[in-house]
Amino acid sequence: MTRQMALVGFLQAQNCTNLPSSWRHPDSRDDSMSADYYQEIARILERGKFHMAFFDDRLAMPDRYGNDHAHTVEYGIRCVKMDPIVVLTTMGMVTTKLGLASTASTTYFEPFDVARRFATLDLMTGGRAAWNVVTSVNDGEALNMGREQHLEHDLRYDRADEFMEVVLGHWDAWEDGSLVIDKTSGRFADPTKVKRLDHKGQFFTSRGPFTVPRSAQGHPVVIQAGASGRGQRFAGRWGEVIFTAARNLANAKQGYDAIRGEAAKAGRDPDQMFLCNLITPVTAATKAEAEDRMAVIQKLPLEIDALSLLAEGSTSISVPRGSTSR
Ligand SMILES: Cc1cc2nc3c(=O)[nH]c(=O)nc-3n(C[C@H](O)[C@H](O)[C@H](O)COP(=O)(O)O)c2cc1C
Repeated sequence: MTRQMALVGFLQAQNCTNLPSSWRHPDSRDDSMSADYYQEIARILERGKFHMAFFDDRLAMPDRYGNDHAHTVEYGIRCVKMDPIVVLTTMGMVTTKLGLASTASTTYFEPFDVARRFATLDLMTGGRAAWNVVTSVNDGEALNMGREQHLEHDLRYDRADEFMEVVLGHWDAWEDGSLVIDKTSGRFADPTKVKRLDHKGQFFTSRGPFTVPRSAQGHPVVIQAGASGRGQRFAGRWGEVIFTAARNLANAKQGYDAIRGEAAKAGRDPDQMFLCNLITPVTAATKAEAEDRMAVIQKLPLEIDALSLLAEGSTSISVPRGSTSR
């Protein structure tokens, strides 16, 4: 079988792209808070044969630098973060093949809720949903979500392991063939094929039965991007698509081997996973045109963009060389 590269468009349901200053680009649209904007991106990605559109997410503005949101808002540094699942739904309505993925946190949500939202997206889009499982990053998110402080790193992954058991348990609650929908007999579904989970664990209790039947693809695709030893163990255990952010080939190979090794240790077939490494290409018809585009992009970011994102512990800061201070 010919191996194919999986292409994922890394997006943000925000006022900028992954490049924090992108809203200042002369060609960028001013309506990034409209369905029309995201539907246009979805159509372009589908036309370009991308497998998936993916929304990064965080449950707070990057306001840790100076402990103040004034600069975050004034300079538009990822200060808008809409609910990515709602945005994905609008994109799903104008496409037929594009995978639709977003992040949701195992630290701040309940597994039943996350399982239900993604299972619903999966049904509404004919089996195109995917969930990027994250444990979240900083205290800003904790403060917005009813806690004083973010949980400790490895404890977050212990909680995430149990979170996955609950989500996958719920996703399997309705066996294939459980829906009958027979008006003549009056039977909607076969009760022997719909199970209660009755989960009682260290972090979660969730009874069920789950309220969303299985989709055509069984359940949404699970994405993971753990990079630490504990994170890679988690990714190897659960991830079907793995995101990495290696900066060079040696680093990429090391990560690739480590994740595949963890999957094998968890009793899974590493060939069943897709590994996708983050790149930020600037494309054009010719090299000279691409360089001109790059030059425009490089002039956009301010030092404050980088400082804000570093302070929030961002793993995806793409502020090119040449940032100007303000
Ligand atoms: C491509 C990519 C996308 C990511 N998206 C998110 C995200 O949306 N939200 C988030 O909190 N973390 C995100 N992360 C961070 C990872 O989930 C993970 O926490 C990080 O790689 C550090 O690994 P560790 O958790 O094992 O320490 C992303 C990482 C990568 C490489």
